[in-house]
Amino acid sequence: RKVIFSGIQPTGIPHLGNYLGALKQWKHLQDTASPDTKLIYCIVDLHAITVPRERGLLTQNKREMLAALLAIGLDPTRSTIFHQSSVPAHSELQWILSCTASTGYLSRMTQWKSKLQSQSPSDTATTTTTTSHPALKHGLFSYPILQAADILLHRATHVPVGDDQRQHLEFARECVTNFNHTYAASVFAPPSTILSPARRVMSLRDPTQKMSKSDPNPASAIFITDDADTVRKKIKHAVTDSENAVGYDPEGRKGVANLLEMVGHLTGQSAEEIAGDMKGMGLGALKGRVVEVVEGELGPIRERYAEVVGREGYLREVAEVGGARARESAEETMRLVREATELGGEC
Ligand code: TYM
Repeated sequence: RKVIFSGIQPTGIPHLGNYLGALKQWKHLQDTASPDTKLIYCIVDLHAITVPRERGLLTQNKREMLAALLAIGLDPTRSTIFHQSSVPAHSELQWILSCTASTGYLSRMTQWKSKLQSQSPSDTATTTTTTSHPALKHGLFSYPILQAADILLHRATHVPVGDDQRQHLEFARECVTNFNHTYAASVFAPPSTILSPARRVMSLRDPTQKMSKSDPNPASAIFITDDADTVRKKIKHAVTDSENAVGYDPEGRKGVANLLEMVGHLTGQSAEEIAGDMKGMGLGALKGRVVEVVEGELGPIRERYAEVVGREGYLREVAEVGGARARESAEETMRLVREATELGGEC
C-alpha cells in the first residue's frame, strides 16, 4: 500500500520555498492519489524544540502552521494532519532506532556539521568535539533519527521534500537496513524521496543562500500570508544584478534565475521558456511578472488562512482527529517493532 508521509517544523509561517518545495506537492499528491493511498502530514513540534524559543511561541506557531496547511488546501478528511507530540510512538521509535544507528554517520550529516561550525571558532571547527560546546544540544545531533522514526513509524513508501532534506532521507534508509539487520526482521522497507521540481528556492536578499525561516531578515523570504503590498515590495527589492535584461543563466545570474524559476514553478513553464518570452525586456518587467503570479497563487491562500486561523475550536478538532488517526497508524507498526525487539512480549 502506498503511504505518503512528510513533515514541517512549526517555526513560523511557511515561506515560498516551503510552499513550492514541499507544500504545493503535498496538496498535489492529495488531489491525485488513488483512494487507497494513505496520506500523512505532520507538524513536527518535537523537532522544533531543538532550538530555544520564548514561552508561548510554540503553541502559537503550531496553531498557525495547522491553519497554513488547511489554507493551502489540505483536506483533513482525506489527509491525516497532526502534531508529532500527540503520537508518543514517534519518540519511542526514535529511541529504538537510535540503538542501531551509527554515530559516525550522524556526525557526517551536513546540517550537523554546519551547526558545529557555526558554534565553533573557525580554525578549530573540524577538530573540536561537541563536549566543548555547551550550546550544542544532543537533540540537534539525533534530529535525523527522530525524522527517520517519523517516516518509518507510518511505514511511508514516499516522502515529498525539498532538496535540503535529501540527506535525511538517505539516513532514514540507512536506519531501515540497520534495524532489519540487527533484528533479522523485515519490519521496514526503504522509503523513496519525492523531490518537487522547485527543489531549492533561493533567498531574495542573497540568491546564493536558500530561502529559510531562520533568516533574520524578513525581506529574504515571501511568507504565504504576506499581503499584496508586502509581496510587491519584497520582490521589487529582490537582489538581482546590474545587467538590466532578462536572461536565464543559473550559474552567472543567480538572482534573475531564481525569479525566472519562481515564475516557472507557478505557471508550469520552464525558466528558459519564460526568459525566451521576455527577451528584450528589463528586470522591472520580470519583477512585475513575478508579483503577478505569486499574488495569483498566494491571494486565495491568504484569504483562507485569515478565515481559519481564528477558529480555535475547529483547529483543535482537526488536530485531535488527526492525532487519533496517526496513533492508530503508528500502533500497527509498533506491534511489529515490539515483537521484533522483544519489548512488548509477555515475561
Ligand atoms: P522544514 O520545516 O525546514 O521544511 C519543510 C519543507 O520545506 C522544504 N524547504 C524548501 N524547499 C525548497 N526551497 C527552499 N528554500 C526550502 N526550504 C525548505 C524542505 O525541504 C521541507 O520539505 N527536517 C524537516 C522536517 C521533518 C520531516 C520529517 C520531513 C521532520 N520529520 C519526516 C519529511 C519527513 C524540516 O526541518 O523541514
